[in-house]
Parts: sequence; structure tokens; C-alpha cells
Amino acid sequence: MSESNYEAINWNEISDQIDKATWEKLTEQFWLDTRIPISNDLADWRTLDDDHKWVVGHVFGGLTLLDTLQSQDGMAALRRDVRTKHETAVLNNIQFMESVHAKSYSSIFSTLNTPDEIEEIFQWSDTEEFLQNKTHRIYNLYHDDANPLKKKIASVFLETFLFYSGFFTPLYYLGHNKLANVAEIIKLILRDESVHGTYIGYKFQLAFNELGENEQQELKDWMYNFLYDLYNNEEKYTHLVYDQVGWTDEVQTFIRYNANKALMNLGQDPLFPDTAEDVNPIVMNGISTSTANHDFFSQVGNGYLLGNVEAMNDADYDVKDPNEK
Ligand SMILES: [Fe+2]
Ligand SMILES: [Fe+2]
Repeated sequence: MSESNYEAINWNEISDQIDKATWEKLTEQFWLDTRIPISNDLADWRTLDDDHKWVVGHVFGGLTLLDTLQSQDGMAALRRDVRTKHETAVLNNIQFMESVHAKSYSSIFSTLNTPDEIEEIFQWSDTEEFLQNKTHRIYNLYHDDANPLKKKIASVFLETFLFYSGFFTPLYYLGHNKLANVAEIIKLILRDESVHGTYIGYKFQLAFNELGENEQQELKDWMYNFLYDLYNNEEKYTHLVYDQVGWTDEVQTFIRYNANKALMNLGQDPLFPDTAEDVNPIVMNGISTSTANHDFFSQVGNGYLLGNVEAMNDADYDVKDPNEK
């Protein structure tokens, strides 16, 4: 290969304004787990029984695995198919934040769990069948360079669908005025994932719209089948995790609702009949505070700044028994 010129990134010549808007949004909402006073939740933590503590620890184990996948493989995979240099810069930001997300769960563990419990949680997430299933499905697509659009679908399904079986728990406790600082971390993660899913979905749509009708139909069929496969696995995962506390049905409604959102990010029609009205309102309430800027393309600059992230207190929510369904 003859030496072609290596070109510098020029931020004064932007071919896709969404790249610049997303960069600004993501850098503005930058945060670190070390800023959140998790130990303020210890008193709440001690009120939970062993089954509920198990659920909290293990859903975070599952989320750690998925954020590890995003930071180690996901963004590197997407970076091979960028349309602009600015997209590479945005993906670099996302990759680092995925590492922050993965690390945050360890900060939570080190505050709430004993060393033995932490070891057991990681042992579990590194071997649990349904968790490993979804991780392998996504991993294999990330490493299939022949199908750049399938990589993007995998990424959006992870960001906007697969995380939510885990997010349910902290949002549930937030709505019951428990573990508010843990929930604050999750809300910051959720706010990032919301931008990631929208941005990567947008880049997917640009490429999808360039395909011929037959190719589009083929990819759509594949996408819906893939989502349905992931959902079947997710059903088993939610039984495994949530049956002991009786939340399985509610979690499944929540993840069907988010599966539809993932399809929406990809510019596709919903698969499931579930809407926001079907989701436990306490959980929806938690989610709405973190995704108030969901329509971020039209609201760049309006996100709240790091300094505005504050510890929650009792006055913020009605007190309810967290063990009550
Ligand atoms: Fe993440
Ligand atoms: Fe993400």
C-alpha cells in the first residue's frame, strides 16, 4: 500500500452536527463514582433481608459484566466502522465512561458487601448461564467485522434493553426511599446509556437508510429474531434473579417496554404491546428523573452539571416498606 496522507481531526469543519452535539452532551454530563457518598446508604442496606440483599448484589454483578463488555469490546468494535473522525472521538468518550460504569459497581460492592460476598458475586457473574449467554451473543457480533450494522444493533440492544433487568432494582428502591445514593449512581449510568443508545441508533439509521429494500427487510427480520432470542434468555434470567422476591412479572414488563425503546432508537416499530403505563409507576418515576433530557438533540446544553448531583434524602420521597411488593 502506498502511503496515503494521515489526516488530522478538524473540529471547525463538522460534517455531522450530531457528532458535535453528542460530544458536548457527553462531556457536559461527565461524572465519577467517587463523588457519590454511597456509605450514606448503609443504614438502609441493613434493613434489607438476605434475599433482597442477594438481588441487589447480583444484578450489579450482571451489570458489571455488561459494562465490561462495552468498555473492552463494544466501542472498539464500533470504532472500526465510523463515518467521521468526530464519531471516533465520541466513541472514545463512550468507551471511557463504560469503564467508569463498570468501576462504579465495585465502589458499591466495597461499601455494602463483605470481601467474601464480593468474591461470590464475581464468581457468579463470570459463570452464570443466562448472563454468559447474552454476553457471548453480543461479543460474537462485536467481533464479526463482516456485519457492521449487526454490531450497532447489538450495541443498542445492550444499551437500551439488556441493562434494564438490572436497573429495575435500584429504581425500585429509589421509589421506596431506599438506597438513594446507589440509585444516584445508577441514574447517572442510565443517563449516559440513554445518550449512547440514541447516538449509536442514529448512526445505524444513517447506514440502514442507504441499503436497498431487500437488504433492509433481511436485516429487520434478523433484528426482530435476535431481540426475541435475547428476550427469551432475559425471561429465564429474570426468573433466576427475581423469583425469590416476587418481582419477576414487573421486571419483565419493564424490560419489554425497554426492548421497544431499543427498536425505536434503531428507527423500527415496537415488538411488544407494553407501554410506559404498564410499568410500575414507582420505577417509571425513578427513570423519568434521569432521562428528562432524553430528547437530547434538541436540548444540548440543558443537562445538569456534575455539581448538581446531590445525595438524596428522606424528604425526597414517600417512605414505604422496601420489602413490600
Ligand atoms: Fe455503561
Ligand atoms: Fe453505554
